[in-house]
Amino acid sequence: MSLIKIKNLSFTYANAEEPAIKNINLTIDKGEFVLLTGPSGCGKTTLCRCLNGLIPHFYTGEMQGDVIIDGFNTREHPVYELAQKVGLVFQDPENQLVSLNVEKELAFAPENLGLPREEIRKRVEEALQLLKIEHLRYKAPYELSGGEQQRVAIASVLTLKPKILVLDEPTSNLDPKGAEQVLKTIKDLNEKLNVTIILIEHRLDLILPYTTRVILMNRGEIVLDSSPEKAFCSNIPEEIGVDIPVSIKLYNELSRTGVKFNKVPLCAKDAAELLAGVIK
Ligand SMILES: Nc1ncnc2c1ncn2[C@@H]1O[C@H](COP(=O)(O)OP(=O)(O)OP(=O)(O)O)[C@@H](O)[C@H]1O
Ligand SMILES: [Mg+2]
Repeated sequence: MSLIKIKNLSFTYANAEEPAIKNINLTIDKGEFVLLTGPSGCGKTTLCRCLNGLIPHFYTGEMQGDVIIDGFNTREHPVYELAQKVGLVFQDPENQLVSLNVEKELAFAPENLGLPREEIRKRVEEALQLLKIEHLRYKAPYELSGGEQQRVAIASVLTLKPKILVLDEPTSNLDPKGAEQVLKTIKDLNEKLNVTIILIEHRLDLILPYTTRVILMNRGEIVLDSSPEKAFCSNIPEEIGVDIPVSIKLYNELSRTGVKFNKVPLCAKDAAELLAGVIK
């Protein structure tokens, strides 16, 4: 059974004239690592809000179609129940962190669920270890760097043990080093715990090697859904104004001049290996 099933989904925000997303049909299986991309305003964040029930329960507007998460129709289950299936992490972790220190922050959601004290303690310890933030346990959110805050934000949704993690531009406020650490953590969660990942991210060079599927949106619709290699070798990203990784630009240019490669380089390291093969 698919973990996520979206059927004929459209959503128009109250007061908006046009739907922000329209006719979305999508199934995602357990363990997939999906990159969601597309130009600004194409509906990426709106689609994320549909995945954990913020739409239709929090944002007002008109929703058509259905979103089924692990057998739950989002229309029929409140956000706190869906949060146990889908963890949503935003761009700006500061607004997501509300507690006095990291340990309390991580205990917050499982406490609200009314879990037994011992289970809460166990989950907090696990999340601290997974994100390698044990040393930050007694720090206040405002004492942390952006990258540390983002790792705490991810840890805090993991305490609910969701099967799906949706991350909306989690690295856009981070420096390259912080971004790399956060993206590596996300990859580990996917590889080691088989958490299904849906990620909106602009640092393609860092993330494409881990990605199993790319979904491109434009004007509220899905315009391409394929492997990363196929997606970025097609003309569609350029037509709709989506960034193409430099390694694939190079590959496309060289392919046009007749140089043949046996694979598409998804990052600088791949490109360097391929070029080294040609130069020899
Ligand atoms: N809370 C809201 N109320 C009304 N309209 C909204 C709201 N949030 C988004 N929109 C509109 O819905 C459309 C899709 O926006 P959305 O934020 O989903 O795009 P996005 O692809 O995430 O863009 P970006 O890359 O800039 O984050 C836009 O036209 C936007 O103005
Ligand atoms: Mg957005």
